[in-house]
Amino acid sequence: MPAPSRAVYPGSFDPVTNGHLDVMARAQRIFGHLIVAVLRNPAKTPMFPVEERVALLRDSVSGMANVEVEPFDGGLLVDFVRQRHATVVVRGLRGVADFEYEYQMALMNRHLAPSVDTVCLMPSAAYAFTSSRLVREVGMLGGDLHALVPPAVVRALDRRRAARAQESRA
Ligand code: PNS
Repeated sequence: MPAPSRAVYPGSFDPVTNGHLDVMARAQRIFGHLIVAVLRNPAKTPMFPVEERVALLRDSVSGMANVEVEPFDGGLLVDFVRQRHATVVVRGLRGVADFEYEYQMALMNRHLAPSVDTVCLMPSAAYAFTSSRLVREVGMLGGDLHALVPPAVVRALDRRRAARAQESRA
């Protein structure tokens, strides 16, 4: 039997959703160790700074064995994967709309590091329509997200919405 693999699940996680957690739970059952790598990405302006995204994730995965969360400060993903002695990149695939982007990234990463493989996992159909982008939008408009994101994310979005309302009154 082969040794258990170490896998990296990279992403922006701005913010983490139940769809991401569903993928992590599946990956954790397959791989011996899962590192969730949270991209700092100075090119994009995230809603939540990387430290807060990491904290929200750590809060959400505290019950999952063999899962650790780390900031990923940029550079090539495959370099991060190799530095962590991992051999697998995990990505979630909600539907065909995700496929083209994931396929290109997987092949580019394979071009750069032939020994690193990408494994795409399908989250539950209950989360097929859940994305961080829509969660941010709905959260800022006060929509109910309890079924789609962890409680800490609901609270973080509520705080953001309250802060924005206060800014617009000032
Ligand atoms: O959640 P996201 O924003 O879809 O995640 C994108 C991510 C972090 C996986 C991707 O941007 C990435 O791997 N960035 C690292 C830079 C890199 O290695 N690029 C070349 C390989 S495609």
